[in-house]
Amino acid sequence: MNRPLLYLVLCFLFLVFSGLGSIDRETILLGLSIAKAEEGTKPSQTTSKGPCKPTPPDALGPFYTPNAPERTSVGKGHILSGVVRTSVDCSPITGARIECWLAGQDGSYDDEHRATLFSDKTGLYKFESNFPPPYMGRPSHIHMKITAKGYQTLITQYYPAHGKTEGEFDVVLIPED
Ligand SMILES: [Fe+2]
Repeated sequence: MNRPLLYLVLCFLFLVFSGLGSIDRETILLGLSIAKAEEGTKPSQTTSKGPCKPTPPDALGPFYTPNAPERTSVGKGHILSGVVRTSVDCSPITGARIECWLAGQDGSYDDEHRATLFSDKTGLYKFESNFPPPYMGRPSHIHMKITAKGYQTLITQYYPAHGKTEGEFDVVLIPED
C-alpha cells in the first residue's frame, strides 16, 4: 500500500471510529426513522377512495336536553344540510338520529329551538332554523348530537359563516369497537 492511500484509509478509519463518525451514524438512523414514520402519509392513502376523516367532536355545552321533538324546522333564515357517513369507507348511514339545538333570535336557549331528525336512505339530513346569533362571546353555532347503531355517538357543533342562509356539513362517524 503506497503512502497516500495509507493516509486515506487512516483518515476514513478515524472518521468512522471518532465522535464525528458516530454523529454521522446518528444522523443516518434519524433519517431512516423519519422516513419510516412518513410511510403512513403517502398520497395513495389520502385519496377520496380512502377512509373519511371522522368529524371532530366539540363541547356539549350546558343547554342540551334529551328527547327534543321530531321536526326538521324550528324557524326560518338558515338551512343546514349534509350527509351522515361512516369513516370506514365514506358510505352514507341511513336512519342516524340527529339532535340539533341552538340559541333563538333573542340569544337564549329554549325548547322552541331544539329538534330531533333522521338521515334518509341516502344519509342526507336537512335542518331549518333561524340564523344562530353569537352567544356570550362565542361565534354563531348549532349544536349537534348524532347517534347511529354500531357507531360511536358524536357531539359536535356547526359554525355557519356570517350572513349565510344555507350551509353544508357532512358528518363522519366512527364505528364502535
Ligand atoms: Fe351553544
